[in-house]
Amino acid sequence: MNQNLCILILMFLLLLTEASFALDFYYQHCSVPVSCGRLDISYPFYIQGKQESFCGYPGFQLSCHGDGEDTYPLLQLSGNNYTIHNIDYQNKSLLVSNSLLSGYLSSTACNDNISSLHNLTFPNDQYKLASNQAGFFLLYNCNSSVVESFPKYKVGCFDQPTNKTRSNTSVLALPRDEYPKFGTVEADKCGGEVVVAYAGRGGENGGVGLIQEVLRRGFELNWIASDCSRCQNSGGRCGFNYTTYHFRCLCPRRTHSVRCRDDEG
Ligand SMILES: *[C@@H]1O[C@H](CO)[C@@H](O)[C@H](O)[C@H]1NC(C)=O
Ligand SMILES: *[C@@H]1O[C@H](CO)[C@@H](O)[C@H](O)[C@H]1NC(C)=O
Ligand SMILES: *[C@@H]1O[C@H](CO)[C@@H](O)[C@H](O)[C@H]1NC(C)=O
Ligand SMILES: *[C@@H]1O[C@H](CO)[C@@H](O)[C@H](O)[C@H]1NC(C)=O
Ligand SMILES: *[C@@H]1O[C@H](CO)[C@@H](O)[C@H](O)[C@H]1NC(C)=O
Ligand SMILES: *[C@@H]1O[C@H](CO)[C@@H](O)[C@H](O)[C@H]1NC(C)=O
Ligand SMILES: *[C@@H]1O[C@H](CO)[C@@H](O)[C@H](O)[C@H]1NC(C)=O
Ligand SMILES: *[C@@H]1O[C@H](CO)[C@@H](O)[C@H](O)[C@H]1NC(C)=O
Repeated sequence: MNQNLCILILMFLLLLTEASFALDFYYQHCSVPVSCGRLDISYPFYIQGKQESFCGYPGFQLSCHGDGEDTYPLLQLSGNNYTIHNIDYQNKSLLVSNSLLSGYLSSTACNDNISSLHNLTFPNDQYKLASNQAGFFLLYNCNSSVVESFPKYKVGCFDQPTNKTRSNTSVLALPRDEYPKFGTVEADKCGGEVVVAYAGRGGENGGVGLIQEVLRRGFELNWIASDCSRCQNSGGRCGFNYTTYHFRCLCPRRTHSVRCRDDEG
């Protein structure tokens, strides 16, 4: 037999055996572990550009940004980026902070981009505020007179090196309950729009600087997506079919609607 023909037959046989063990394309694709910084990313989340959308659930696309230790997934909500600090897949909860706000609060510079803060709303029922989170009203571009009257609620924006509050660009964070007492007269001394912000409980009635710290740490969200546990317990990977717009259980040999069959392993 011709040597070339021999090689050809061998390659053909190899392909055949490969094919009989071939894992389902979708299963294989979504089985590759993906992380962003120190966080593992899996269903319902997927990282845009790094993973196919069929490995996640609609509305759960994240992007991954940063350098080295400071790498975090970002979630876009209501026109702002939210930095994800932690993901609890069991409790379906996220610890997030508004990237713009926490950047502002971590810096002594007076960034004008605080005016790009938007109210966080939940139009699609995909996310909701976890129970027991504290609400704040942020007032920005506040006149120094009003800021000095409410030092406890002053957050961010100090002139350097004097560390004095800037005349007209400071931000106040008022606990939701305090806001009515604050009154519109004082609120009118702040030029910017009122923005609602959230934080975990524990800092609303604390001392100077505590509200800033609590806001910077962020707050908890819960998410709602088709449950993955039955599929996962049967050895599958959860995913989504954008053509049929249905949840899919991606199994080693083919995809199923809820869970893998026994012959799938
Ligand atoms: C979110 O962050 C990314 C990366 O830093 C940036 O490119 C994008 O413009 C930001 N989006 C918003 C709405 O701020
Ligand atoms: C998850 O929820 C359970 C019960 O609600 C709670 O006991 C547990 O502390 C939560 N886990 C985390 C990491 O928050
Ligand atoms: C906000 O301003 C700071 C400093 O001016 C800048 O580094 C940062 O990228 C800005 N953020 C956004 C989202 O524009
Ligand atoms: C800001 O405060 C200064 C001094 O307290 C006062 O003269 C000025 O009228 C105030 N401006 C506004 C817009 O409230
Ligand atoms: C500036 O003020 C902040 C908040 O009041 C304080 O934490 C910080 O130590 C001050 N820095 C200097 C150099 O005084
Ligand atoms: C703050 O005051 C300065 C000068 O007094 C003015 O140029 C600037 O536009 C003011 N900024 C805001 C946000 O009102
Ligand atoms: C944000 O929410 C507050 C409080 O509900 C409201 O007063 C304010 O107008 C809202 N801002 C925008 C831009 O919708
Ligand atoms: C989605 O369904 C269509 C039609 O049944 C099928 O052709 C396609 O391969 C499926 N895609 C995924 C990701 O399951």
